[in-house]
Parts: sequence; structure tokens; C-alpha cells
Amino acid sequence: MQQTYIDQLKGHIGETVTLKGWLYNKRSSGKLVFLQLRDGTGIVQCVVFKPNDEALYDVADSLGQESSIIVTGTVKEDARSPIGVELDVTGLEVLQNVHDYPITPKEHGTEFLMDHRHLWIRSKRQHAVLKIRHTVIKAVRDYFDSNGFTLADTPIFTPAACEGTTTLFEVDYFDDEKAYLTQSGQLYNEATAMALGKTYAFGPTFRAEKSKTRRHLTEFWMVEPEVAYAGYEDMMDLGEGLILFIVDRVLNDRKQELATLERDTTVLEAIKGPFPRLHYDDAVKMLQEGYDKGELAGAQAASLPGQGAEDAGKLPAVRRFEWGGDFGAPDETYLSKQFGLPVFVHHFPTAIKGFYFEVDKDRPECALGIDLLAPEGYGEIIGGGERAANLDYLISQLKHHDLPQEIFEWYLDLRRYGSVPHAGFGMGIERTVAWMAGIEHVRETIPFPRMLYRLRP
Ligand code: 4AD
Ligand code: MG
Repeated sequence: MQQTYIDQLKGHIGETVTLKGWLYNKRSSGKLVFLQLRDGTGIVQCVVFKPNDEALYDVADSLGQESSIIVTGTVKEDARSPIGVELDVTGLEVLQNVHDYPITPKEHGTEFLMDHRHLWIRSKRQHAVLKIRHTVIKAVRDYFDSNGFTLADTPIFTPAACEGTTTLFEVDYFDDEKAYLTQSGQLYNEATAMALGKTYAFGPTFRAEKSKTRRHLTEFWMVEPEVAYAGYEDMMDLGEGLILFIVDRVLNDRKQELATLERDTTVLEAIKGPFPRLHYDDAVKMLQEGYDKGELAGAQAASLPGQGAEDAGKLPAVRRFEWGGDFGAPDETYLSKQFGLPVFVHHFPTAIKGFYFEVDKDRPECALGIDLLAPEGYGEIIGGGERAANLDYLISQLKHHDLPQEIFEWYLDLRRYGSVPHAGFGMGIERTVAWMAGIEHVRETIPFPRMLYRLRP
């Protein structure tokens, strides 16, 4: 018999259908067995009534969690069911009866669950998060595809750093040559944008980050648009449009998953443009007020490299935020809390930014960089800005950052042959999904997370 999927059952009321899946949970009461069947599209309750068929009842009653089964039955409307229907079972085929599934409905610690990630992803909550991830990625692609962008993916093996040399993963290439896993496709995007006008790359990126925080992975997915003849303000427009599009799509298409996760959707529904745009100078003033009022005590200490906010109490508090500093997680949280909306910060100090940033002509100590800080403490989800267009300036920046000019000659060619103002950004998928789903840690937003202390499974 043809297979029906659980999310299609509402269109089959009164019909006999066959479902193929796994036993999520089971309850029996002497006369009735209730099988919670999952098939990847949802969960449905399947009812076996002993007086109807004793042999069928015994088989159903013998099944353990995550047994693989094929169930035939009649679809019945049921107002109490979260999906509006249940199944009266008439037939049951057991592919494998399982009795020692390691993850039981009782509480398990995070380490145990992470070690069993290959099985943990079958749970309702993880299922919901991965569905939201799918929708975020689909929304990202639809947004760029319908706004005149061409997808032009960039290499993963690269000969040099893009985002500083301290977070590079080095791999052996051939003949003693070293390669590095890409930290960002940006430099290549700048080349494709000069060829195609508006481009985006979308793929995995790698950072050898020694930070053990809820926002850091060593392998994460980034979408990176790049636009020729554009400035940093255009990137704030583009980023705002992208975020509004994603929020809208998730709210519309993932109602059930958001409910499963008990996500407070009112905070997402309240996300409307325009997003506040804060000059770094003003962000610093705002932070200083926060420190003065004692609302950020200990925050800077907590944001030292490699320190989680959890260590804040053990470190000496720094009372002021000085102009020139980079934001720590508590600083970002404080800034976005002042608005309840995602906030753009622009004009970061040139000294703390990458070699490639354009600077403000009137204040060269400020780079035309933009960051978008998500609300609810989810931190920086977009980073980017306007790229330096001048050849001599870039050559001096390479020297200043101790980067080998000869490897960047191809990149410098973009400034030799038809250099134009251009800009782009990168948005981290996992941080965006964590925010949409309202979950604490990015490790649950990707099927198999890679972190400082986790390479398995
Ligand atoms: O701010 P970042 O480092 O910017 C760049 O790499 C630019 N070259 C992108 C560009 O302009 N094309 O990273 C961009 C975003 C961050 O805002 C964050 O969302 C995410 O990538 N990100 C991480 N996500 C998870 N784990 C990490 N270790 C991340 N590092 C950055
Ligand atoms: Mg950044």
C-alpha cells in the first residue's frame, strides 16, 4: 500500500492509510494501546483496541521506544489531538522491535545528549529546531534570489586569512603547501560582485575559536551577500530587509514548531523596521551609562577571550567602557535591550577591525563597518561593511596586519582594474536560528555541532 505522511492525514479522514515510521512513545491500559508514531513530518496517536484483534494488541504492546514500524489504519477526526486526527490501527508490521534505546523520556544531561546527538535529533524539540533551521535557510535563499542576487559559492580551502590569523584552521595541502579552512568567503565575493554585480555565497565557515560560549561554533554556516557600487548604509538596508523577511517566514511557516519550543512569539511579532542605527560613539556613551548605573558590572571581564559570562563573578570588574574597545557579549545584550529590536552599530574603531574595511574620510580612526545585534541577548548576528577601494591603502593595511601581499595579489587586482565602492556582510545561520527558536545555545541549531571540545559524533 502507498505511504501517507502524518502531516497529510487531515486530508484523509475516514480513509484507510499506511504510515511508516518509528515508535516515539507508548502507553497501554489493559484494553487499549496508544502508540505515538513519528515519521519525520509529525507525531500521531495510533490506537489498538484489544477486543478487535488480540494478536495485534499483543504485538503493539510488546514494542519498545524507537522500534521501526509500518502501521495501517483508519483516520479519525479527534478534537483532543494536537494535529486534529488519530489512527484506528488495523494492521502492524514490525521491522525492528527495539528495547534498549539509550534516550528515554526521563531527563538526561547535556553531555550525554550531545554524545548521542545522532539519536537526540529524533526528539520533538530537536526536530522543531531543525525544521526552523530549514525555514531560515530557505528564507535566506528566497530573499536573495528574488532581489537580483546570483549565488556564487567560494572555496573552502584558502591560501590565507580573511578574519585574522589567530582563528585559522591549518590543513596540509600537497607538496608541503599549507591551506586554511575558510573563515569567510568575503574576499572571493568581492571578485564575484565585480563580475555579477550582486552576489551571495552560502556555505560552511571555520574558526579555530578557543571560546567556549553559547554563541560560538568552530564550524558554522554563513550567508554572505556582496554588492558592487554600494556603501555601508546600503548594507544596513539589505540586512534589515533580510531579517524582517526571515522573521515573517518563520512566524508563518513554523507555528507548530515554535509552539513545541514554547517560544514567546510576541517578541518576534514585535520586530518591525526601521531598526535603530547607532554610531559607535553613541553606543559607547550608552554603555558607559550602563556601567555607571551598575547595570553592567563585571561585564567586560566576562567578555575577555575564552571566558563565558558564567565566569564573570570570578574576575575583577572593569567599571568603564572606553572608546576603542570591542563589545563583549554582555555589552551587546545591554545595547539591544535598550530597544527591544535588532540594533545596527556602525563606525567601529578601525584598529579593532579587519584589514579590508573602508574608513570614514573625515575620521580615519572609524571604519565603515556594521554589526547587527539581535535582541534577547543573542548577540551579533550580522557583521560586515564597506570595503576599502584604494589600492595603496590596502597594500599598507596588509603590511600593518602582517599579511603576505603576494598571496593577496589577486585581491589587489580588484583595486587595479575597475575599482568601485562596494560592500557586503555575513549573517551567521546558527545564531539566527537560536534567536528564532528562542533556545539558549547554538549547539542545538545545527545537526552535528563542532565546538572547542566536540568533534564527535
Ligand atoms: O563578523 P564576522 O566575523 O564577519 C565576517 O566574517 C565578514 N568577512 C563577513 C562579510 O562581510 N562577508 O562573521 C559574520 C557572522 C557573525 O555576525 C556571526 O553571526 C557569525 O558570522 N559568526 C559565528 N557564528 C557561530 N560561531 C562562530 N564562531 C561565529 N563567528 C562568526
Ligand atoms: Mg563580527
